Amino acid sequence: MSKRVLVTGGAGFIGRNMIRAMLGDGYTITSLDNFKIGGWQHVPEDIRDHVEWVQGDTRNFDLLMQVTRHKEAVIHLAAPSSFLMYEEDPVGGASVTTHGFINLLEAMRRQDIGKLVYASTSAVYEGNDVPYREGMELNPPDLKALSKKWNEEVAKQYSERYGITAIGMRPFSVYGHDEFSKGGYANIISLFVWAVLNDVTPVVWGDGSQTRDFIYVEDAGRAFQTALERDLPTQEFNVGTGIETSFNEVLSLIGEELGKEVKKEFVEIPIAIYAQRLLANVERAEKVLGFHHEVDVREGIRRVIKAARGAQATQQWPAISNAQMYFETLPTG
Ligand SMILES: NC(=O)c1ccc[n+]([C@@H]2O[C@H](COP(=O)([O-])OP(=O)(O)OC[C@H]3O[C@@H](n4cnc5c(N)ncnc54)[C@H](O)[C@@H]3O)[C@@H](O)[C@H]2O)c1
Repeated sequence: MSKRVLVTGGAGFIGRNMIRAMLGDGYTITSLDNFKIGGWQHVPEDIRDHVEWVQGDTRNFDLLMQVTRHKEAVIHLAAPSSFLMYEEDPVGGASVTTHGFINLLEAMRRQDIGKLVYASTSAVYEGNDVPYREGMELNPPDLKALSKKWNEEVAKQYSERYGITAIGMRPFSVYGHDEFSKGGYANIISLFVWAVLNDVTPVVWGDGSQTRDFIYVEDAGRAFQTALERDLPTQEFNVGTGIETSFNEVLSLIGEELGKEVKKEFVEIPIAIYAQRLLANVERAEKVLGFHHEVDVREGIRRVIKAARGAQATQQWPAISNAQMYFETLPTG
């Protein structure tokens, strides 16, 4: 098993939760992060002192050469996570996702590192019928999905030409207890919970019947770690649960957990490209990785509520109103 691992984007939502588990399993971790989204204040104290943190940008090739030195494997997470970020800053979004990725692969080639696990996205499937299977043809309709698909193609080329095993992970809708770093770009489960706890009526795009395959952040992190540990050829995996939940069901569950009636405000969908259903076929992840999610959506919502209440009590959580939920500038950190 590879023990000295570089994690890019390690201060981020998936990264910090995955790193906690990996430290527990004996890994030595270096994290490269520019701290623009996963700000330092969001890195939990229990992992702060146990990781070598390097602040910098994946587009800096010299820095990539430094941080890959003496590493046995890389998990690459550093890229914008929300499709809205690419809508607001197309040049920045595409630049980080593509330039940062080729820098990393090239540094790995020169340092003779043979294993990469990287975050693609389930958005690469859009336009296909659900459930999405890894073998489907990909025709990404937007810049986020297109940039990630490009990553997958470049990864395959580096695999074929230079023998780097590159496992592409396609996360579905990742949510969880400590998503405060993302502010208005957080998963809809967090946004709904925060709104309800703030006595703000949640805004639902469309009629609330749209579904997502919600996967808890610790499960998602475990999928990445498992892909690192298995001896596999280059390929892609869905990171989902195989279960879809509608936004109306999410709000009902939040209401049940809080013991109160949740009001909703329905608005017209404000963007041209918007998926009605997102659902993973999880057969490959189960059979080849042996991965199965552990946290169901009700339990996950309970944990999001508990964390939000804790943050409210210590006033570490800025109140998020509906106006801040969409199309706002990124939180700085
Ligand atoms: N969260 C999801 O639902 C989801 C779904 C599909 C794909 N993904 C992918 O998974 C990865 C991790 O997502 P996340 O939810 O943890 O996001 P996140 O924003 O919380 O974490 C990303 C981290 O990368 C850092 N970063 C961004 N650009 C960087 C750069 N150029 N150089 C160095 N660091 C940089 C950020 O500061 C942040 O800490 C991303 O690549 C994202 O596209 C996430």
